Amino acid sequence: MANVLEKFSLVDQVGIVTGGGQGLGRTFCHAFAEAGADIIVAEINAKTGPHVADEIARLGRRSMFVETDVSDQASVQQMVAEALSTFGRIDFLMNNAGIVQHLPAEQVDVEDWRRVLDVNLTGVFLCCQAVGRHMLERRSGRIINIASMSGLIVNFPQCQASYNASKAAVIHLTKSLASEWASGNVRVNAIAPGYMNTAMAQPFFDDPAYGGVWIPAIPMKRPGEPEELGPVAVFLASEASSYITGATLVVDGGYTIW
Ligand SMILES: NC(=O)c1ccc[n+]([C@@H]2O[C@H](COP(=O)([O-])OP(=O)(O)OC[C@H]3O[C@@H](n4cnc5c(N)ncnc54)[C@H](O)[C@@H]3O)[C@@H](O)[C@H]2O)c1
Repeated sequence: MANVLEKFSLVDQVGIVTGGGQGLGRTFCHAFAEAGADIIVAEINAKTGPHVADEIARLGRRSMFVETDVSDQASVQQMVAEALSTFGRIDFLMNNAGIVQHLPAEQVDVEDWRRVLDVNLTGVFLCCQAVGRHMLERRSGRIINIASMSGLIVNFPQCQASYNASKAAVIHLTKSLASEWASGNVRVNAIAPGYMNTAMAQPFFDDPAYGGVWIPAIPMKRPGEPEELGPVAVFLASEASSYITGATLVVDGGYTIW
């Protein structure tokens, strides 16, 4: 019987991370590479994406940046074609790219509403579909969608109806695809992070109007560090989670308990 830690290994696996150029996506790229995987950084930002791909190469893994807009079907199909022509197969996909708009619902422009849904929900679907077809053909694959605790609760004091709705939909899309693709040996799961201490979020934690409200509402009384999500992602991308599909793992310091 294999040692239990071997089940977490991603050695010789190939994975795609969308929005891998910064923030949590960059952390996920590093975590997967540290577990042994080769990484395709599918990112809309042509400056940050290549930088992270270089970092992964310096870890001794193969890596590739593909400029990708996850909300654009042609762009997603091109990215998957390039990934397959370079690496030959895709073992796991992480749908991490996401955007947020903070605005009271009565002031939200329909174009902004659509953009959030296009990136956060349709983008996840397009990547799942394009990569899922390949995985179903191989009868092997794992997909991890980055949802949010905002798909389970409504944050306060910030107003973000489009984001909350999109993340709730990602959680149910995850279950729907898990149901359809279980017989094809493709597992689909989600991670729902709480407030994470990324470079972009950090100023908000110091602001009494935001951090002053958020932190007391977290049972663990602190934001999560991005690195605390890496092992969870490796777990879902690896054989360690072989009997888990359709699940959403909540990583929020207990925020959704209260
Ligand atoms: N940071 C948090 O506290 C937190 C909490 C819960 C969930 N999340 C989710 O985690 C994910 C990453 O969040 P983050 O804080 O690192 O955000 P971020 O803004 O720092 O990074 C998002 C990345 O996605 C890329 N991106 C945006 N639109 C894209 C598109 N159309 N196609 C391809 N790439 C695109 C951006 O260029 C960027 O590199 C998001 O889905 C977010 O909703 C974040």
